Amino acid sequence: MELVIGVAQRLEPVAKREKITRVLEGAVLASLFLEASTRTRLSFGSAFSRLGGAVRETVGLTFSSMAKGESIADTARVISGYADIMAIRHPEAGSVAQFAKASLVPVINAGDGAAEHPTQALLDIYTIEEEFATRDKRLDGSHILFVGDLKYGRTVHSLLKLLSLYERMTFTLLAPELLSMPASIVELAEFRGHRVIQLSALPTEPDRVDVIYTTRIQRERLQGEQIEGYSPDFHVNTAFVNHVGDPSTVIMHPLPRDSAPASNDLSTDLDNDPRLAIFRQTDRGIPIRMALFALILGVADNIEASYREPPWHHPSQPGANSS
Ligand code: NCD
Repeated sequence: MELVIGVAQRLEPVAKREKITRVLEGAVLASLFLEASTRTRLSFGSAFSRLGGAVRETVGLTFSSMAKGESIADTARVISGYADIMAIRHPEAGSVAQFAKASLVPVINAGDGAAEHPTQALLDIYTIEEEFATRDKRLDGSHILFVGDLKYGRTVHSLLKLLSLYERMTFTLLAPELLSMPASIVELAEFRGHRVIQLSALPTEPDRVDVIYTTRIQRERLQGEQIEGYSPDFHVNTAFVNHVGDPSTVIMHPLPRDSAPASNDLSTDLDNDPRLAIFRQTDRGIPIRMALFALILGVADNIEASYREPPWHHPSQPGANSS
């Protein structure tokens, strides 16, 4: 985790378009997104392109030969002949591990059903580290509040696992009872010595939290649970943040946020609040995914030597750290 974040920091000039590089010239990424995606798919593709590689993709199960009944194993073997690395999103838990088993080239999990979303967790950790650095805070010993669909939200599964590698953490897990965090992940965090508090409503006088990480109800994954949107208790808005947070609290969401009024997802009344880190968070997907590609394909040591000035006009304030 530290290695990936260190390389991501070195790649910030590329993410901010201050430098260009071609360290992955000639390499091909196969991007298979068999489930809906905007930021993960485009940021994987942009990250690979910004390192000088080419991206070939297929989107949606119906447009791939898996709709004709092709197995994961055959698909993985075929793509291995076309590309040097794959990024895969698939609706079934465990499917990406099956791809990796049959593939002759490295495979990155871009989300497998309700199970895991490891690259999102890495960019979330990077975001917390960077946001805390501006507040003179450390992750060890901090208090993280997870709010929302903790059952089907894969981002919170992967993030809680990674956060439990830090020390002396407190995790508050606030979710409707039907959507609570899987017991195996709670047990892992407890086994690693952290304090885990599971709630289905906020107390009148809650402890201050350092991070509020909220999620969308994964409506497409519900299995009969009668939940259309959150009750207002789970609605992260200015009043909620003032209730549990302080001026240094960081507010995060993997996005997309559900804009249907009844969804009670993260409120737009926080949009001008400097504590809202959601777009700095999405920006950081680029350096993190570039770092993964550079490390996996063995070019991380060549980065700085390869830098050139962009010959094209570039935005003056792109990338992480802009608001
Ligand atoms: C998430 C996902 O796909 O798991 N989005 C993302 O990749 N940033 C969260 C979601 O869909 O709610």
